[in-house]
Amino acid sequence: MALNEEQILITGGSGYIGSHTIIALIEAGFKNIVSIDNYSNSTEESYKRIEKITGVSCTHVKCDTSDAASVAQLFRQFPGISGAIHFAAHKSVPESVAHPEEYYRNNVNSLINVLKYGSENGLRKLIFSSSCSVYGNIQSLPVNENTPFEKAESPYAFTKVIGENLLQDFVRSRTDFNAVSLRYFNPVGAHYSGMIGELPNQRPNNLVPVITQTAIGKIKEFSVFGNDYPTRDGTCIRDYIHVSDIAEAHVAALKLLYNMGTAKYYDVFNLGSGNGVTVLEAINAFIKVSGTTPKYNIAPRRQGDVIAIYSDSSKAQSGLGWTAKRSLDEMMSTAWKWELYCRENGI
Ligand SMILES: NC(=O)c1ccc[n+]([C@@H]2O[C@H](COP(=O)([O-])OP(=O)(O)OC[C@H]3O[C@@H](n4cnc5c(N)ncnc54)[C@H](O)[C@@H]3O)[C@@H](O)[C@H]2O)c1
Repeated sequence: MALNEEQILITGGSGYIGSHTIIALIEAGFKNIVSIDNYSNSTEESYKRIEKITGVSCTHVKCDTSDAASVAQLFRQFPGISGAIHFAAHKSVPESVAHPEEYYRNNVNSLINVLKYGSENGLRKLIFSSSCSVYGNIQSLPVNENTPFEKAESPYAFTKVIGENLLQDFVRSRTDFNAVSLRYFNPVGAHYSGMIGELPNQRPNNLVPVITQTAIGKIKEFSVFGNDYPTRDGTCIRDYIHVSDIAEAHVAALKLLYNMGTAKYYDVFNLGSGNGVTVLEAINAFIKVSGTTPKYNIAPRRQGDVIAIYSDSSKAQSGLGWTAKRSLDEMMSTAWKWELYCRENGI
């Protein structure tokens, strides 16, 4: 079967990274995508906007990946699924500190169910959404894939460590399954059309949506957590990467897995821009491209935050033929375009 005819399952496909990845897959010629979501942190409207952007209507089903019976039923309904990109998970660090049991339940069970019921029904390839948070509070920068993990700083991060271990053990136990874990650094920005982007159901915890929501008046004022870290301006350093760059890396990873045929294979790749940017630098980039200054204050450090982290993404370049192309300004301008689109369209 031609690669673009393979049936690919996207879990969490109406969410932020999932919806951008569906667009990247459609643009790369993939014709047979099935997306599932339980809409715990997104809405079905995403698919309408994907259709407006691409002209393609994406098959989608409401399904809770943490529920074994629903996942088993899904794979019976779509027996042709051969590959999956598994995004579905809760992702808030502070929420995971407050409700660890819910994070372990949802994030770990979802991966188990997709692997178990998928592999019983012909699934042979999986891409797992991991996170740079697996590295913990790392001292040696930039971080590459061989950097040993420090202690996970939050239950959320630990669910990603568990997910990676589970996936690696799963591949070892099979003869014909291949998989990769992609460790995202800090995905931000929105599709260049401004029609899809990050849409938190509750007050966001990530910096860029907090900035744009404050600039537009949804949030009165936001807090920068800590300006006494040992960094160049005292605020935390992150490696921001445009969500469309992340989306394109999934297309590259999928091609890699299919090109391997039935070979047993598991590997991990960092997805970052390689540039460390402080919180204040990110805010200033936003002010520059939007001409709008959001109100913020300096608050105490927040539990679970790592001080500084940025990526060495050379392995993704050599292994996937992928590099991040979009600039910090583009991340901020597209995020702002999306925020304005939300206001205009009552989203
Ligand atoms: N955005 C980031 O900063 C970031 C960084 C590193 C890793 N990740 C990981 O990438 C993945 C996607 O993140 P995102 O930013 O698009 O988040 P998101 O919340 O926008 O998307 C996740 C989607 O999964 C859905 N979902 C959650 N639990 C589900 C379940 N049990 N069944 C079905 N659907 C479920 C949500 O409704 C949502 O649409 C997650 O696994 C996240 O942990 C995200």
